[in-house]
Amino acid sequence: MFRKSETARLRWLFDKARTLLSNGSALAASRNFLGPLIPKRLLMSVVPLTSIRFSRLLLTGAAGSLGQVLRPRLKAYCDTLRVSDISDLAAAGAGEETVQCALEDAEGVKTLLAGVEVVVHLGGVSTEKPWATVLPANIAGVVNLYEAARLNGVKRVVFASSNHAIGFYRQSETIDNKVLSKPDGFYGLSKAFGENCAQLYWDRWGIETVSLRIGSSFPEPRDRRMLSTWLSYDDLERLVVASLTAPQVAHTIVYGMSDNRAVFWDNSGAKHVGFKPLDSSERFRDAIEAKQPTIDRNDPAAIFQGGSFVKATPHG
Ligand SMILES: NC(=O)c1ccc[n+]([C@@H]2O[C@H](COP(=O)([O-])OP(=O)(O)OC[C@H]3O[C@@H](n4cnc5c(N)ncnc54)[C@H](O)[C@@H]3O)[C@@H](O)[C@H]2O)c1
Repeated sequence: MFRKSETARLRWLFDKARTLLSNGSALAASRNFLGPLIPKRLLMSVVPLTSIRFSRLLLTGAAGSLGQVLRPRLKAYCDTLRVSDISDLAAAGAGEETVQCALEDAEGVKTLLAGVEVVVHLGGVSTEKPWATVLPANIAGVVNLYEAARLNGVKRVVFASSNHAIGFYRQSETIDNKVLSKPDGFYGLSKAFGENCAQLYWDRWGIETVSLRIGSSFPEPRDRRMLSTWLSYDDLERLVVASLTAPQVAHTIVYGMSDNRAVFWDNSGAKHVGFKPLDSSERFRDAIEAKQPTIDRNDPAAIFQGGSFVKATPHG
């Protein structure tokens, strides 16, 4: 552990390095080089992947699992980070604004997006739930977000879609980012709707979106399926930053997965986003296979890409 004064000294050093290094790949290289020397949380929050900075970046769903991962990291890419959620957000840190807001509150969302340059939209229902729960947050909520983006002149949205928008493709298939959606429940259906909403706002109003069909973003893969779908937190940051900063994206769908060995998805149609994952689930394979030595090949959760979501039943 570093003492506080050492932390402050390191921050000063990195700030200097950041101003000296204007090239994104040099910064990434410096980060890889410094990796073994200092605590990872500190490193990831002070040494950005690119020198591009936005005036005000809005992160919705900031109190959630991935929101808490991205909140400290996204500060490096903007002058002001506005964080929002329906839940408690804790006090605003330096360079932060906190706004508690329900996505179904159209007027509140309009105010939420005032003065915002780019949005990372993580907020909403994130698992299979009854329709009455999904509808306000993920259907009305996403329309409210895009309407507010249009009215406030927002340039780009990074939308947290999900693999559950295509969950009824088989694990034996490899699909690209042009396939028709095949949702595996109400949650997946809402994510397919969100992607369509993104397409509409690009075609009609020129608001760019990268829709991230996130696989499984957790500290580690938890089962055999996640050996294919896992997205490490560092790769999540790489994906979000690439999506925010790629020169032109129109509406692009990209699969959110690390550089795993055996995958269901082909990201070749999203090369222009410039996402280059550096982690892989492979180092967890032995432990996962020992924990889950066999799988029932007739189980729908093992047949379809959406895994257990294809048989989730919160539908009454
Ligand atoms: N974690 C993953 O592996 C994964 C995989 C696929 C997609 N995603 C998507 O990424 C996003 C973030 O995922 P997560 O794992 O952090 O989910 P999470 O459930 O932990 O976070 C979602 C946040 O949205 C907030 N929220 C819910 N309803 C809201 C509403 N009506 N108004 C405002 N805020 C509301 C919640 O309070 C929560 O803090 C979600 O959109 C999820 O669907 C995540």
